[in-house]
Amino acid sequence: MRRYLLYKTGAVVFLLGFLAAPGAAPLAAAAPKAEFNKGDYWLGKEIYEEICFSCHGIKGNGKGPSFRSSRPRPQVFTSPYMKRMTDDYIFSIVKFGKINVLLEKTKGLKLKGTKATPMPAFGEVLEDDQIKKLIKWERGITTGKQIKDEESAEIFKDACSQCHGLKGKGDGERPRGSQPLGKPFVSEIQPPPMDYTRKEQMERFDDEFLFALIKYGRLEATTIKKFDFMKAYGHVLNDKEIWGVVRYVREAYINGKPRKKK
Ligand code: HEC
Ligand code: HEC
Repeated sequence: MRRYLLYKTGAVVFLLGFLAAPGAAPLAAAAPKAEFNKGDYWLGKEIYEEICFSCHGIKGNGKGPSFRSSRPRPQVFTSPYMKRMTDDYIFSIVKFGKINVLLEKTKGLKLKGTKATPMPAFGEVLEDDQIKKLIKWERGITTGKQIKDEESAEIFKDACSQCHGLKGKGDGERPRGSQPLGKPFVSEIQPPPMDYTRKEQMERFDDEFLFALIKYGRLEATTIKKFDFMKAYGHVLNDKEIWGVVRYVREAYINGKPRKKK
């Protein structure tokens, strides 16, 4: 379906091809797997405790000593949301930095089975006031106290649910693909669209950031609005070291199974 509702002035207008049609990928495509990478856990731990901890925290909870100075705040690796992220994507983020991954400036390195997909811009189709109301409404999903707001609910269903899921759990048809509903899944687009039910994730974002994100989209929010804090480490770490840190993050935080001292 390529139709797109235009909400400005309250009139329903159609905008063609605003977002790429979902379901363009073959339905039978194999679901991507969060496979174990070849990295060295202990090497990764060393690097994590030297570089990454300052923002992401020694416990992987996104609350390192300098976590308050970034917007959005650092990723929370212990959140269940992280299970939807692939090792390939994590590797690319660390090597090239988030903005370059989203722009696919990754020197030929392609994400296996998934596609880098930035959160799109809605400034053309939504009024500022509608965006502000949407943010309030979405925060209601997180707190469990959903406010009644028909307009936001309708906009969400039409414009956001294909990625964020009908209930805001981040399990829409684009990230989920052919993987069964209700089960844990690995997102077919990376980063996985946000799951609004995860409080520890939504606390990373203030309203000003979310407003810029929805109005301008992830690319402009990162470049022009300068919400760009996950930089590249490819110039200080080689691939072996990066795979190590990916393995450490996967095992110790995402899977929640830190190893005992060697
Ligand atoms: C200066 C603070 C800082 C440091 C140091 C840092 N990060 Fe991050 N990282 C961030 C922030 C902020 C985000 C959230 C970025 C966003 O959502 O735009 C993030 C996000 C991530 C993500 C998730 C990307 C996504 O799309 O959600 C991964 C994976 C990651 N960092 C890995 C690492 C690793 C591994 C290291 C160490 C080599 C590291 N980071 C060092 C601030 C930092
Ligand atoms: C094409 C898929 C797609 C659509 C459609 C979409 N989003 Fe997103 N959204 C994403 C992705 C991907 C992220 C994760 C962004 C990141 O971490 O860089 C995201 C993240 C978010 C976040 C959390 C902030 C963050 O940085 O993670 C909010 C809030 C949000 N979207 C709101 C919306 C709203 C409101 C709409 C509809 C008007 C919408 N999105 C439509 C893909 C989408």
